[in-house]
Amino acid sequence: NRGRSKYIIGVSQCSNDEWRVQMNKEILREALFYPGVKVKIRQAQDDNARQINDIKEFIRQRVNLIIVAPNEAGAIAPVLEEAYEAGIPVVLVDRRIHSDKYTAYVGADNYEVGKKVGEYIVNALHGKGKVVEITGLKASTPAIERHRGMMDALKKTSDIKIVASADAGWFQDKARMVVDTILRNHDQIDLIVAQNDRMAMGAYQEARRQKREKEILFIGIDAVAGKGYGVESVAKGELTVTFIYPTGGDKVMQVAMAILKGQKYERENYLSTAAVDKGNARIMQLQTEHIFALDHKIELLHNRLDDYFLRYSAQKMFLYACVVI
Ligand code: FRU
Repeated sequence: NRGRSKYIIGVSQCSNDEWRVQMNKEILREALFYPGVKVKIRQAQDDNARQINDIKEFIRQRVNLIIVAPNEAGAIAPVLEEAYEAGIPVVLVDRRIHSDKYTAYVGADNYEVGKKVGEYIVNALHGKGKVVEITGLKASTPAIERHRGMMDALKKTSDIKIVASADAGWFQDKARMVVDTILRNHDQIDLIVAQNDRMAMGAYQEARRQKREKEILFIGIDAVAGKGYGVESVAKGELTVTFIYPTGGDKVMQVAMAILKGQKYERENYLSTAAVDKGNARIMQLQTEHIFALDHKIELLHNRLDDYFLRYSAQKMFLYACVVI
């Protein structure tokens, strides 16, 4: 039901976790600034078949634009090509597809993120040491690109060895499991680098359970603020460092709206990264708390405005009725 909406935007998220919850909030908040826009969000629980269905449903509903974080680059490509060829603009966020048929991309450059991680490792280990890598879902582009970037940075020294590498599919529990086995098989590990914070925290928890956490540095990616997430873990001295992987939901909406209104937009929109370590984690926490408070006020204001408009139109109706009678 299109109702009074001028544009309907379908958002297809591959998963649902703190990072995506944050992005969805930003998308919905930014949408408040565009009257007549309705946003429908679906999440596929890391399941290709489910995401393909979600996107098919959006095509069937003839949404005006699809925003999508594709679970795996190969599997999700055909259905997005179908949407694109049917004339529905496709905005990729954070993950890419093995296809050129998309309208725009918004997100970090994952190769660059990986490279920054690699450079950090070279510095932290003074060019020598034994490293374990925990990767995200192997067929997703951030996993591929972060690995490539990190390996390129590690080429600078031949004394850093990746002694084990395992796929934990972006999940904390899975990371705990694979790290359990790896710790048992390797007496010396200097650093565990995980491709996101959830997995890095899983690795840390398992190392602590085996009383090995003090001899190992832990690296993650995402830097989500808030209770129980990456930045807090760094502030507590569990993770050594995390790298900001910007959610950028506001930027995503801006690009989507420019496309819909026929305005100028960039096809590739890169959001930047930075390291969060013990030196700046607290500052980041304080600042994000402040931002969250302001975000909340924006939502409050919006609800008040809605109330005023409702009351205003009710009064107008009443006045009109009086005049007619
Ligand atoms: C969130 C997430 C992040 C990771 C990103 C990669 O769903 O798993 O933790 O950085 O996806 O696409």
